[in-house]
Amino acid sequence: MGNIVQQDLLQQLEQLRQEAEAALTQANSTEATRTWHSEYLGRKGRLTGILRNLGSLPGEERPLVGKVANEVKTELENALQERQTAIAQAELEAARSAENIDVTLPGRPQTLGKLHPTTVTLREIYAIFTAMGFQIFNSPEVETDEYNFQLLNMPPGHPARDMWDTFYTDSPDLLLRTHTSPGQIHAMLAYAPEPVRVILPGKVYRYEQVTARSESMFYQVEGIAVGRNITFSDLKGVLTNFANQMYGEGRQMRFRKSYFPFTEPSVEVDIDCVLCGGKGCPICKYTGWLEILGAGMVHPVVLLHGGYDPVEFSGFAFGMGPERIALLKYGIDDIRYFYSNDVRFLERVG
Ligand code: PHE
Repeated sequence: MGNIVQQDLLQQLEQLRQEAEAALTQANSTEATRTWHSEYLGRKGRLTGILRNLGSLPGEERPLVGKVANEVKTELENALQERQTAIAQAELEAARSAENIDVTLPGRPQTLGKLHPTTVTLREIYAIFTAMGFQIFNSPEVETDEYNFQLLNMPPGHPARDMWDTFYTDSPDLLLRTHTSPGQIHAMLAYAPEPVRVILPGKVYRYEQVTARSESMFYQVEGIAVGRNITFSDLKGVLTNFANQMYGEGRQMRFRKSYFPFTEPSVEVDIDCVLCGGKGCPICKYTGWLEILGAGMVHPVVLLHGGYDPVEFSGFAFGMGPERIALLKYGIDDIRYFYSNDVRFLERVG
C-alpha cells in the first residue's frame, strides 16, 4: 500500500456515502436496516475502517477528512432514521390490513349469564322468610341413617321409610339425605334450649325413576320454628304470608290432613291454581288446587331428639320444593329441564 493521501480518504468517504445510500434503499425491513447500520456505521463498519487511516495523514490534513467523515456519518444516520420510520409505518400498515378489522362494523354483543331459575326461586324464598325473622341454616347433604330417619321418628323397619328411598354409600349408615328434615335436628341441637326459627335450603336425593315429575336430585327448603306457645295458627299465618308474597296477594289456601312421622298433626298445603284461579285446568289436573308443601307441628319425640322438653316447647316445621314453585311460576312442564344443562332452557326461563 502506497502512501495514503487526503484525496484518497475523501474519495473513499464519498464512495462510502453513495454505496451506503444505495444499499439503504434496498433495506426493506427493520432487521435489514440493522444489518446495514453495522455494515456501514457500526464499530467494525466501513466508516470506522476508513477513519482508522486518519493517523497516517500529516497533521494539517486530518481536520478536513474528519469534518467530511462527520458529515457523511450524520447524513447516513439521518437517512437511516427516515428509512426506519418509513419501514415501521409500512410494517404497521401491513399488520393492520392482515388483521382486516373493519372498525365500522357494529360490535359483537357479549352474552350475559343469568341466574338459574332454581337460584332465582331460592333467593325469593330467602327474602320472604328472612323478613319474617327466619335465619338460614346449612346442614349436610351426606347424612347418617340416624339423622335422615331415626331421629325423625322413623326407626329401622318403619314403613314410612319407603317414601324416602335413597342412595346408600359403602360406609354403613352413611347416605344421601332424602329430605332437608334431618336439618331440623341439627338446627334444634344448635339452638336448644333457646328458641329457634330457621329455614334450611339445599339439595336432596331420591332413589327414584326419573320422570317429567320427579328427579333423583332436587332442592328443598325446610323451615322450623320452636319456642314456647307456638301453635298451628302460627304455622298457618307464616305459610299464608309466604304464599301471598310468592304467588300474589289473595291466594286461597287449603290445609289438607296428611301424615309425616316427624309432625303431628301433619298437613299438605295447596294454593288455588295459579293458572286457572281454581276453575280447573291441565296444570292442576282439573282439581283447581296445587300442592306446594308438607308441614305440621313438630312431633314431641322429634322435639325431644332436638333437645327440647315437649311439655314446655312446641314448634312447627314445613318443607317445600323450589323447583315445583319455579315449574308453576314459569309454566315448565318437565322437571328434567332444570339440571340437564341445556342453555336454551336456561336462556328462556327466568
Ligand atoms: N320432609 C318432608 C318431605 O320430604 C316434607 C316435610 C317437612 C313435611 C317438614 C313436614 C314437615 O316430603
